Amino acid sequence: MSALNQALRAALAARQPLLAELHAQATDCYRLFHGSQEGAAGLTVDRYGRQLLVQSFHRPLEREALQALIDIYQESFAGSLLPVYNDRSQGNSRIDRSDPVYAAEPAALGELVGHEWGLNYRVRARHAGQDPLLFLDLRNARGWIRRHSAGRSVLNLFAYTCGVGLCAAAGGARRVVNLDFAEGNLAVGRENAALNPQLPEMQFVQSDYFPAIRQLAGLPIAQRRGQRLPHYPRLAAERFDLVFLDPPAWARSAFGTVDLLRDYQSLLKPALLATAEGGTLVCCNNLAKVDAEDWREQVLRCASKSGRPVREAEWLAPAGDFPSRDARPPLKTLILHL
Ligand SMILES: C[S@@+](CC[C@H](N)C(=O)[O-])C[C@H]1O[C@@H](n2cnc3c(N)ncnc32)[C@H](O)[C@@H]1O
Repeated sequence: MSALNQALRAALAARQPLLAELHAQATDCYRLFHGSQEGAAGLTVDRYGRQLLVQSFHRPLEREALQALIDIYQESFAGSLLPVYNDRSQGNSRIDRSDPVYAAEPAALGELVGHEWGLNYRVRARHAGQDPLLFLDLRNARGWIRRHSAGRSVLNLFAYTCGVGLCAAAGGARRVVNLDFAEGNLAVGRENAALNPQLPEMQFVQSDYFPAIRQLAGLPIAQRRGQRLPHYPRLAAERFDLVFLDPPAWARSAFGTVDLLRDYQSLLKPALLATAEGGTLVCCNNLAKVDAEDWREQVLRCASKSGRPVREAEWLAPAGDFPSRDARPPLKTLILHL
């Protein structure tokens, strides 16, 4: 057996108790192979409902290796999965998708639905963006939000496809606001809402983070000298009981730069000010090279300096389908009780 196949089988065996737990919780979206930690850096295998999503990040997977990989999971899931392979190593350039091993069946590329914590999520293997529509390492955070939203107002920042908002609504939040600047991502959030018609309505705000959070926090919007700012929606100042802040590693817009390595504070400070007295801010940093303890200190210092000291800070780790040999997972999540 090849070293890769051995690693895949070992990862599958190690996950059996977790998979039983997840299936019992009505979850069928999870990582089956986390290559960087399980013996094949740059390769991931995820299940999203019926879809089996294989992704390579460093180099394309040879067709024989891909076929052998698919066989392992089909054997384990009684042939029920629809495989899709996305090579992300060179902008999807090198794969000959006329080859049946690399091409996916039309059904695998259709509009599928995956489930997590009993909620339905849109699954689409290939779409305008690169990332899958649901980030699986955030599952525990979404579960936490669901358990702690009852009766609260919830602000979901950098909402992407609104999974966190959906969990807040399912957990009984009295108001849910999802904020993102990408209409395409919010459109999937709306699809996700429609796939769960039993949930109360959520609000979707399409706006750049910086003007939106500064207005909510009651702060002025800085204008660069001599430059007119693009249009942004006007929002009234408001403090939320529960705020979720999970930004991308880096992004630049006309209003500012998101930079999780050099400047977490300029994201965090207005989010703290938009959190109610006695409220909770859940914040994330997904950059592997940011040390958890350093980041925690920065976050606590920023909260004190902003006049919103943290009463208690709790770590929230990803589940066992994202193993971390050195106990330092890239995604760090801190729950700040103010
Ligand atoms: C990595 S995703 C965040 C994941 C998300 N929190 C979740 O629960 O899945 C990054 C999101 O940030 C959005 N984004 C990036 N820069 C932004 C900005 N300046 N203002 C608003 N949204 C931004 C992108 O459109 C994208 O949806």
